[in-house]
Amino acid sequence: MSVEVQVRRITANDIRVRKGGEPIVALTAYHAHTAAILDEVVDFMLVGDSLGMVMHGLETTLPVTLDMMILQGKAVMRGARRALVVIDLPFGSYEESPEAAFRAAVRVMKETGCGAVKLEGGQRMAETIRFLIERGIPVMGHVGLTPQAFNTIGGFKVQGRDPHSADTIRVDAEAVAEAGAFAVVVEAVVEPLAREITHAIKVPTIGIGASPACDGQILVLEDMLGLSARAPKFVRRFGQLAEGIRTAVGDYAAAVRDRSFPGEENVYLPKGGALPPKT
Ligand code: KIV
Repeated sequence: MSVEVQVRRITANDIRVRKGGEPIVALTAYHAHTAAILDEVVDFMLVGDSLGMVMHGLETTLPVTLDMMILQGKAVMRGARRALVVIDLPFGSYEESPEAAFRAAVRVMKETGCGAVKLEGGQRMAETIRFLIERGIPVMGHVGLTPQAFNTIGGFKVQGRDPHSADTIRVDAEAVAEAGAFAVVVEAVVEPLAREITHAIKVPTIGIGASPACDGQILVLEDMLGLSARAPKFVRRFGQLAEGIRTAVGDYAAAVRDRSFPGEENVYLPKGGALPPKT
């Protein structure tokens, strides 16, 4: 007799009610295998459009398409059973109108089965966020450094250093929260401002290069694992995976060259058979 254990998946609402409580733990995920590992630990995983850089070696997130997001979203959903999976709406798929955003978000949710979408932008996206939520789509906001605006903000720069930019980010975060977002990513924003926003808005803030006072933190998995060659200042390398891979690949190459791999344990032999002795 097999006993199937039902796992209740974390929802957007479960994240919303964590405001001010135990910090929310999040990481990006793009593959089924890593999603299965993360699933035991994180509250939510984000299929971020950073996959353009991490998986495809692109310079920015701008070329990422809805089909790319859906493909990796499906992979992550196959690995994750417990954590909420949030998928980014990529550049060009949602900015034109609330209706365009709805069509993109519906494709993402129907084709992947994820629990929420994320989109970038503050005040200017508030109407769209409201439109999606009224139609059953949980939305996570994203303010501060919004990488899809790379060309208008002039690069990946820390945000909120001058009073005008600080005011804009404050208003953006409030507008997104007021519109009904269940949480707001605050990216690369100077410390006092991110802390202030966290105290001012009623939904959790998820910091990345922001304040330890945020209600939760997110990092790009490959950055914190030490797999990406370069990472921003706000990343702590919790692992050194690139080194591990380099060593393993070097060991493999040496074993192939000296014929110690495959060994007897890796070869299909006839019953009772053995590999001939090495000459
Ligand atoms: O795409 C992404 O990885 C993100 C995180 C940086 C929050 O949006």
